[in-house]
Amino acid sequence: MEPAVLRIKNLKTQFHTSEGVVQAVDGVDLTVRPGTVLGIVGESGSGKTVTALSVMRLIPQPPGRIVSGEVLFDGADLLTLKEDDMRKVRGKRIAMIFQEPMTSLNPVFTIGNQISEMLRLHLKMSRKKAWDRTIELLKWVGIPSAEQRVKDYPHQLSGGQRQRVMIAMAISCNPEIVFADEPTTALDVTIQAQILVLLEELRKRLGMSMVLISHDLGVIAEVAHEVAIMYAGRIVEEAGTEELFAHPLHPYTQGLLASIPSFDPAGARRERLQAIPGTVPNLMEPIPGCRFAPRCGAAIEHCRREEPPLKEVRPGHRVRCWVAFGEKAP
Ligand SMILES: Nc1ncnc2c1ncn2[C@@H]1O[C@H](COP(=O)(O)OP(=O)(O)OP(=O)(O)O)[C@@H](O)[C@H]1O
Ligand SMILES: [Mg+2]
Repeated sequence: MEPAVLRIKNLKTQFHTSEGVVQAVDGVDLTVRPGTVLGIVGESGSGKTVTALSVMRLIPQPPGRIVSGEVLFDGADLLTLKEDDMRKVRGKRIAMIFQEPMTSLNPVFTIGNQISEMLRLHLKMSRKKAWDRTIELLKWVGIPSAEQRVKDYPHQLSGGQRQRVMIAMAISCNPEIVFADEPTTALDVTIQAQILVLLEELRKRLGMSMVLISHDLGVIAEVAHEVAIMYAGRIVEEAGTEELFAHPLHPYTQGLLASIPSFDPAGARRERLQAIPGTVPNLMEPIPGCRFAPRCGAAIEHCRREEPPLKEVRPGHRVRCWVAFGEKAP
């Protein structure tokens, strides 16, 4: 078996709501390799965040429930660890950067307090050592005048700086893996690029693996070594980044690619070229056949009747599509 720092097997996470059961993540397998970036891409509601939160065991229960699966990390299944043992992994060995830093930074404590608290808790540093290390981390992530800013409260920082603080907090304990969930979506375009470059620099410097979640394949193309495309709680395509961009096989992936402005062959238009028509299906209803078939221009009769398996069709390239397997309308 190829080396992995994290292996997710057959993960299924549901939400039990008054309207019914939402199958948010439905049988996902993913492998994170040492020192690499795995990109997870999909439209809103495809299950990206729920996948990351399930790994971290941060799904609110109820209404959420992880109904099956394994998350293998350093010889243990995180899903069966005692909460005490999980706390030694979460934030320390596997960290997470959220989309909106305001929701994960505590407004009533200074940023210095919040970062140094992590260091004291997880690495058992003294107060003084943790404070010095916090300033050093703030410098690493490019906060100017770190000695002064360390005493700021989150609301005193700009959006970009808050995201830098979140990154400092995430890497503070030298984690083996960082989950970055849309780490730049809330920021404007130039800041987005800076944050991505920073994340990538730190990742290399610290030898971490990263799971980068985004709805934007353009962002993923920049940094990911491997890409998994999610649709309606399932992985529908998976390959090395170059392979995926050179030979996108799933019509959904092709649609996502066509909607990246920079991939517009004419290069003339800056807005999204072609959003995929239709919406993600209701995850409470059983879906016959391929989940993408109702929106798929290439769908044949088989697609509406039976769901395709995720199958390797080129070396290291898996796809879940009857048409990509070579079937044609009769
Ligand atoms: N607490 C919750 N209660 C009920 N349903 C939930 C809850 N959290 C998530 N879901 C549902 O789970 C599904 C997957 O959500 P998830 O947040 O993982 O999507 P996502 O791919 O991260 O989307 P986005 O790009 O918008 O962040 C959605 O249908 C969502 O409505
Ligand atoms: Mg999300």
